[in-house]
Amino acid sequence: MDKTDAYTVADISLAEAGALRVDWARARMPVLAALREDAEKTKPLDGMKVAGCLHVTKETAVLIETIAAAGAEISWSGCNPLSTQDDVAAWLANEGYSIHAWHGQSVEDFYWCIDRTLEFKPTLTLDDGADLIVRVHGEKSEYAEGVIGGTEETTTGVHRLRAMGKAGDLKYPVIAVNDAITKWDFDNVYGTGQSTIDGIVRATSVLIAGKTFVVAGYGHCGKGVAMRAQGFGANVIITEVDPLPALRAVMDGFRVMKMDEAAKLGDIFCTATGMKDVIVDRHFASMKDGAIISNTGHYDCEINIEDLKSQAQAQERLEITMLNIL
Ligand SMILES: NC(=O)c1ccc[n+]([C@@H]2O[C@H](COP(=O)([O-])OP(=O)(O)OC[C@H]3O[C@@H](n4cnc5c(N)ncnc54)[C@H](O)[C@@H]3O)[C@@H](O)[C@H]2O)c1
Repeated sequence: MDKTDAYTVADISLAEAGALRVDWARARMPVLAALREDAEKTKPLDGMKVAGCLHVTKETAVLIETIAAAGAEISWSGCNPLSTQDDVAAWLANEGYSIHAWHGQSVEDFYWCIDRTLEFKPTLTLDDGADLIVRVHGEKSEYAEGVIGGTEETTTGVHRLRAMGKAGDLKYPVIAVNDAITKWDFDNVYGTGQSTIDGIVRATSVLIAGKTFVVAGYGHCGKGVAMRAQGFGANVIITEVDPLPALRAVMDGFRVMKMDEAAKLGDIFCTATGMKDVIVDRHFASMKDGAIISNTGHYDCEINIEDLKSQAQAQERLEITMLNIL
């Protein structure tokens, strides 16, 4: 680990490799380039201190440099212990941004990194999953007073914040980025659809064609995953708890059933609900040997990993692969 007051990253010597990745992303993000050109002149974020808790990827690096170009100071952590690209984090640190993130960190380290970004006393918070904002409203509430607003990227985070807002507990306004049509109708469907299948194939190298592929949830992400799995030649089954998306899935040509039934049939499973315990003990027990289980929802609690572990011990050999796909 390489650590100074300004940054904590896995290996600062990876900065050069990170630069190549960021160049690649920058060349493919023309909207941010246009915003950056304008913001460099007008400095709309002059005097702002932005704490971010978003996936530390090459695309986020381009966002960070755009926010900095608009005049803000930055302090950043990752919003998932497994999503940080260590070379990109090194590049950010090397460029002088305050960044605390590394791939494969523990839950304790994850919150330690968020707390470093709060010590910088932010005026704006940028979240993906609402962990930063929940921290500001809980254990670290002394930092709430200085914050004038925030943003939240994902469906699960927006759900958490709406619940806080309804209870009257939200201390500052937050823009629900996920409510932008370009987010939920495009990124959630097509972005997640592609990256989820890509993650499964890279992690397992299985042929998708001919497999029975079970997608839990037929919301935006589930629809994208189902569409792409079908495109690869899979026989797709949807499980849903809401009759309307379930009907939509039927109309789109998919079989729809309960997970209790689908568990017996699937070769590959992917949860995309944002809800807890979608696949639990009894489902694992009825799955085929060698089934592949993955989650593309924000938190991995959709799959009850404790149940999976207890069965793995009980049966000594249970080859179920867990992925955490972004
Ligand atoms: N991996 C990514 O790139 C990515 C991108 C965007 C969002 N997300 C996350 O993915 C999750 C889903 O987001 P979304 O925008 O598709 O939400 P959504 O609300 O559009 O869809 C969720 C669907 O799951 C269904 N559902 C709920 N509980 C279920 C259960 N037990 N079994 C089956 N279906 C169930 C709901 O009825 C709903 O139709 C969230 O956690 C979100 O934060 C991930």
